Amino acid sequence: MRATRNAPCWCGSGRKLKRCHLDPAALRRPPIELGKVTPLRDVPSHIVRPHYVEGGTVWPPPTPQILAGAALDRMRHASRVAAEVLATTVAAAAPGVSTDDLDALAHDTYVRLGAYPSTLGYHGYPKSICTSVNEVLCHGIPDRRELRDGDIVNIDVTAFVDGMHGDTSATVGVGTIGAETAALVDTTREATLAGIAALRAGEPIQLAARAITAVADTKGYGVVSEYGGHGIGEVFHADPHVHHTITSRDRAVAEPGLCITVEPMLRSGAARFTTAEDGWTEILDDGMPTAQFEHTVVVTDDGAEILTLLVDGSSAVAGPSPTTNG
Ligand code: MF3
Ligand code: CO
Ligand code: CO
Repeated sequence: MRATRNAPCWCGSGRKLKRCHLDPAALRRPPIELGKVTPLRDVPSHIVRPHYVEGGTVWPPPTPQILAGAALDRMRHASRVAAEVLATTVAAAAPGVSTDDLDALAHDTYVRLGAYPSTLGYHGYPKSICTSVNEVLCHGIPDRRELRDGDIVNIDVTAFVDGMHGDTSATVGVGTIGAETAALVDTTREATLAGIAALRAGEPIQLAARAITAVADTKGYGVVSEYGGHGIGEVFHADPHVHHTITSRDRAVAEPGLCITVEPMLRSGAARFTTAEDGWTEILDDGMPTAQFEHTVVVTDDGAEILTLLVDGSSAVAGPSPTTNG
């Protein structure tokens, strides 16, 4: 159900939405409409494809990816390529640019860097990135819909190169976004980095979930429990499942060399979502925005190192977005 100003806030505070988690710009916006999806893009034959693209058996098995030496060097490279593709694509997000335009730019950038876009042909997914706009939680398929001033969009990039996958995403504002939406984006970035900073070899991976939840709680935002991070390396989605919410069922312990993603989704509205007719796009029922950031990391003796950084060590999307009130 769509959110309304006078209904009780989803967060359980007992106050009306307009006195609690009100995002006026989001409330004014019509529900997201999915646009036309363009034909599949080609990848030149010299670019090596992951095994699942050619069909056949699933290989290698999705066991935890513990990397060292030359394998970790290849993982660093794939992760850096993903970060470069993300930085290039994020820089092009602007009013009037379609998410399909972003897909085309990302696609050409992967290819130029010698990488295969891991999502293209993954369980039938048709594009080279995911673009999740406003109330789209994740797995939005790039289409002809043009971005509008005030939208937010998560761009999720996964690059396969030298036999390794690197996976990273960021949410950015399009043009000028409302202050409430910007607070959600900035808190989500902060929660992601806090989750990564909480990881330690020999300690439960749940420490990341605790740190993420603590940051979300400072603003009363919800953390999506249905999606989490994952092991990553030669396999796109490997064990362990990285929960971002607190659960007693998660017994996984970090160890040196373990490569995983941390990729929490935060929401300023209610938790319910529905899969669109395309079978991929997950859309929050109340129409309130959701943000996500993602890094691929390797666990070290005294913490976790972010691998999806640019060559100068910076992040694709470091800072807050320009905002307007109302
Ligand atoms: N990159 C996403 C993740 O973070 C997965 C996208 S899979 C797709 O795990 F098929 F939806 F593209
Ligand atoms: Co991921
Ligand atoms: Co991703």
